[in-house]
Amino acid sequence: MHPTLNVAVKAARKAGDIILRYHNQIEVLTIQNKASNDFVSEVDKAAEDAIINELKTAFPEHSILAEENGEILADKHFQWIIDPLDGTTNYLHGFPQYAVSIALYENNKAIHAVVYDPFKEELFSASKGQGAYLNEQRLRVTQTQGLSNTLIGTGFPFKTPQYLDVYLSTFKAIHPKVAGIRRAGSAALDLAYLAAGRLDGFWEIGLNIWDIAAGVLLVKEAGGFVGDFSGRDQYLITGNVVAGNGQVFKAILKTIHPYLSKDLQR
Ligand code: IPD
Ligand code: CA
Ligand code: CA
Repeated sequence: MHPTLNVAVKAARKAGDIILRYHNQIEVLTIQNKASNDFVSEVDKAAEDAIINELKTAFPEHSILAEENGEILADKHFQWIIDPLDGTTNYLHGFPQYAVSIALYENNKAIHAVVYDPFKEELFSASKGQGAYLNEQRLRVTQTQGLSNTLIGTGFPFKTPQYLDVYLSTFKAIHPKVAGIRRAGSAALDLAYLAAGRLDGFWEIGLNIWDIAAGVLLVKEAGGFVGDFSGRDQYLITGNVVAGNGQVFKAILKTIHPYLSKDLQR
């Protein structure tokens, strides 16, 4: 493992320990003060602080973009992008599908990525040109041709309700063509599962950069494709993401395109 990736893994594991520690106390704390959202924020913050500490110690010259702390500017060529807890709503409900997501970008290109599910002890990692791994095991996307018999991941636009109708029409278009659609609640893990061949494809509207910064490298290093809704590479900016093996990627794009409003066609 590349030494830089090793630091990211160490940081993700520290954050994972914090997440799991609080996870066992959620019910008690919620019953005691009913500030469940604050409590989760506390976890997000503590996990993110642990990650930043680790990264800053090893790479004081690197910039950081973190969901809770915002931007920490330094060398503009290297930027860490962090989501300390992706899947907060799941976490809050004890639904065990959430992860720590950490990526390093060099000149706006992903070079290292970690998505760590502390509950299942699954560590997804990738370095550019070196493949993607689940723990020690090398990952490949599925080989399915087209959409039939596929299992597709997605997310609902609950933070951007103005897109609900458009989203539902894309859902209606995909639904009859596939074997199943899953909304598991963590975009970082959705992309990691795609890299691992547990999903064949994925689409979602309006994600944040930290939801996907690591997952997209996992998918690419496992032989998959990621694009925005025009099939190009502006997904980190638009937050609109389609991903899959080559065939499924193309098929999802083609299927949803007629239903997209103008502002979503990129
Ligand atoms: C959310 C998850 C979810 C996606 C949301 C994200 P958060 O991240 O990735 O799958 O549908 O749009 O905001 O808020 O749990 O870190
Ligand atoms: Ca997130
Ligand atoms: Ca988050």
